[in-house]
Amino acid sequence: MEKDVLDIIKKRRTVRAFTDEDVTDEQVETVLEMGMYAPTYMGRKPWHFVVIRDKDLQTQLGETLGVRPYIQQASAVIAVYGDPEVSNTWDLDGCAAIENMLIAATALDLGGAWAGSPGNVAWGQAEELLRDSLKVPKGFRALSLVCLGHPAKMAVPHTKDERYDKARVHYGTWSELKL
Ligand SMILES: Cc1cc2nc3c(=O)[nH]c(=O)nc-3n(C[C@H](O)[C@H](O)[C@H](O)COP(=O)(O)O)c2cc1C
Repeated sequence: MEKDVLDIIKKRRTVRAFTDEDVTDEQVETVLEMGMYAPTYMGRKPWHFVVIRDKDLQTQLGETLGVRPYIQQASAVIAVYGDPEVSNTWDLDGCAAIENMLIAATALDLGGAWAGSPGNVAWGQAEELLRDSLKVPKGFRALSLVCLGHPAKMAVPHTKDERYDKARVHYGTWSELKL
C-alpha cells in the first residue's frame, strides 16, 4: 500500500488533453473527499469547492486564462475557494487540498491539471468572471482551478533522476550538501 502511494505521486502529471468521456459524479466526490483530508492551519478548513460542468463558462475561463483547450475539454472543473475570514492561511490550505485532489485523480486513472496563478492579471479577470457566474458570496477568494477528465494521452511519470535535485537539499546548514 505504502509503495502504491509513492508510485501514484510519481505518476501524477499535468494532463492537458482530455477525451469526451465523462468523469462521474462519484469520481468527482471521491476527488473532493481526498482534497478535504489535507491538513489546514489549526484544522480550520477555510475552503469551498465549486464543481463546474458548463462548457460555455469553461471556454470563457480558458480564453481569459490563455489556457486552451483543456479547460474547455475537462469533464469537470473544480474551482477552489478560500475564506480569509476563517484563516489567513486559506491559500496554503487550499494548495494542500489541490495536491491531494491531483494525486487522487491519478489514483482513479483520471487526468488532472492545476490552472490559475493568483496575483497575475489574467487570474484577477478569471476571478471576476467566476464571481458573477457562480454567484460567489462576498469575501471568498478564488485560489485555482482543478481540471478533471479522462486523459487523451498519459504523460510519462517523473523519475528520481529527473526530479530529485540534491543541490536543493541542505543538511544542518545551508552550505552542507550531500553530493
Ligand atoms: C500554482 C500553479 C498554477 C498552475 N497553472 C497552470 C496553468 O495556468 N496552465 C497550465 O498549463 N499549467 C499550470 N500549472 C501546472 C504546471 O505547469 C505543471 O505542474 C508543471 O509544468 C510541471 O509539470 P507536471 O505537473 O506534469 O509535473 C500550474 C501549477 C501550479 C502549481
